[in-house]
Amino acid sequence: MIGASLFFVSLLSLAAASPAARPNFVVHEKRDAVPSSFAKVGPAPSSATIPLRIGLFSNNFPGLEETLYAVSTPGSAQYGQHLTLEEAKAFMEPTAESLAAVTAWLDSHDLKATVASPYGEWLTVDVPVSKANEMLDANYETFTHIDTGKQIIRTLSYSLPAELHAHIEAMHPTTGFGKPLTAGRQPVVTASDRPAFNSSIHSDAVPSSCASTVTPACLQAMYGIPTTLATQKSNSIAVAGFIEQFAQTKDLTAFLQRFRTDLPSSTTFALRTFDNGKNTQSASQAGIEANLDIEYTVGIASGVPITFVSGGETFSDGALEGFLDIINNLSQLSTVPQVLTTSYGEDEPDQTAATFTKLCNAYAAYGTRGGSILFASGDGGVAGGQSQSCSNFIVAFPSGCPFLTSVGAVSGIPPSETAASFSSGGFSRVFTQPSYQTTAVKTYLTALGSTNSGKFTPTGRAFPDVSAQGVDYEIVSGGTLEGVSGTSCSSPMFASVIGLVNDRLIAAGKAPLGFLNPFLYANPGMFNDVTLGHNTGCNTNGFPARAGWDPVTGLGTPNFAAILAAAMSA
Ligand SMILES: *[C@@H]1O[C@H](CO)[C@@H](O)[C@H](O)[C@H]1NC(C)=O
Ligand SMILES: *[C@@H]1O[C@H](CO)[C@@H](O)[C@H](O)[C@H]1NC(C)=O
Repeated sequence: MIGASLFFVSLLSLAAASPAARPNFVVHEKRDAVPSSFAKVGPAPSSATIPLRIGLFSNNFPGLEETLYAVSTPGSAQYGQHLTLEEAKAFMEPTAESLAAVTAWLDSHDLKATVASPYGEWLTVDVPVSKANEMLDANYETFTHIDTGKQIIRTLSYSLPAELHAHIEAMHPTTGFGKPLTAGRQPVVTASDRPAFNSSIHSDAVPSSCASTVTPACLQAMYGIPTTLATQKSNSIAVAGFIEQFAQTKDLTAFLQRFRTDLPSSTTFALRTFDNGKNTQSASQAGIEANLDIEYTVGIASGVPITFVSGGETFSDGALEGFLDIINNLSQLSTVPQVLTTSYGEDEPDQTAATFTKLCNAYAAYGTRGGSILFASGDGGVAGGQSQSCSNFIVAFPSGCPFLTSVGAVSGIPPSETAASFSSGGFSRVFTQPSYQTTAVKTYLTALGSTNSGKFTPTGRAFPDVSAQGVDYEIVSGGTLEGVSGTSCSSPMFASVIGLVNDRLIAAGKAPLGFLNPFLYANPGMFNDVTLGHNTGCNTNGFPARAGWDPVTGLGTPNFAAILAAAMSA
């Protein structure tokens, strides 16, 4: 009795004290200044609502990472033993304690969140600006992206009650200033940047025209890619589509009629959408990026089922939200597409380390499920995703994530392929170097010496991992034949090689390759090593290509037969 009444009394005094008590706020993330590409407008309108995404710590991410390496490293007893959705979820989901703590905190602000990812580690809740400022000790303001005029609402700092720091890993939108998403731009490449055809070193099998324009026949000849049809229907390549870049079936048909007359005339792609995405069909809506990505997957990965995964424009800034939504959408499938290729990106410093980590962790989980994540490395050389002025090198996003495969670009014909000067490469400032690449990177850094020292972080995750042709691909877009360049060409091309290898693996009763990097770095002989050229940016000659791995062309360009042989015996 006495105990109960005492309890009652102390509860009362707590309740009486609480309205005045300020939570024990501790800063969670902050940014010192507004990025130079944005200008401050003023306080966020009080009527505005923040679509807040709350990333909870996974209960056992270290366990997931260990499993990822066990199932992806050739020679490991668990190699190829990919996880089911439920098995991945067991590592990725938050603890019941974290969920309860965050739910109680939201309840105390009259908010109810929805679970927004298949593993349950992301919640979303709409929060009015005034409430967000109060519960996060934040100052949400409106900022304009100077080049495009697009406005976003962000805060330069936010805090969480101290007791929530153990439960909440990331929040968005907060201090990340992602620029509006862009498709790979097509940098101007002059003929002098390209090595000419040289009959004394180039194989007769490669038409001399391939030195100036790249077609499926060129890629098949250069890399030994088979033209025979794939046979496995459970295999697939997903091609990411953003910013209302629509892939046209009519253009694909025209492309195949010109460049792949040997394929069945019915050859096409499937559509999957997320965030109310669509894929409008009309010549005026033809997206160069989307057409390139579809034509060089359907047109190279002969017979592999291809799905165009098109996102709507419901998010306030492109990359982070779009990338989270597409990976969460695909991860809810019981069999994930074995390859996902994306030719969009931004700059690493625009993201927050916490949200980038959370996105990267979702890629690790995708790898445990047997999926390979491929990204174009970026077209700004050492100046980030697109060229811009800089003194220190800018890391392209999201290539700094160690759980994806970053693809750079080259031109010319093997054995004299040359790094494309726009091919982004470098060293992440968020992620440290994973062990699969330390030996290869150390050899490069030793040879590089003090060149560019201080402009990059040599201990960071290094990229790209591999490369492929990326200059002057012929595509059909809006009914017209055009030439396109960029690492945007290289990623779908490399994805097609992996898709074809997976077809042969699945046909042989084996697992698909999944997370590629441990397999790639363990087998450098599978690549045409690119030792010529360098990238550029920040008024420097960037990084030179060298024998072995380098931060312009990675391990080199694919040799299909060698990759297939290594995959079959892995
Ligand atoms: C062609 O390659 C050979 C052998 O490497 C070289 O000696 C020659 O200079 C090259 N020709 C041209 C025009 O680059
Ligand atoms: C995920 O994809 C499916 C299939 O396209 C779609 O019906 C669903 O709406 C998507 N989810 C979201 C959140 O967009």
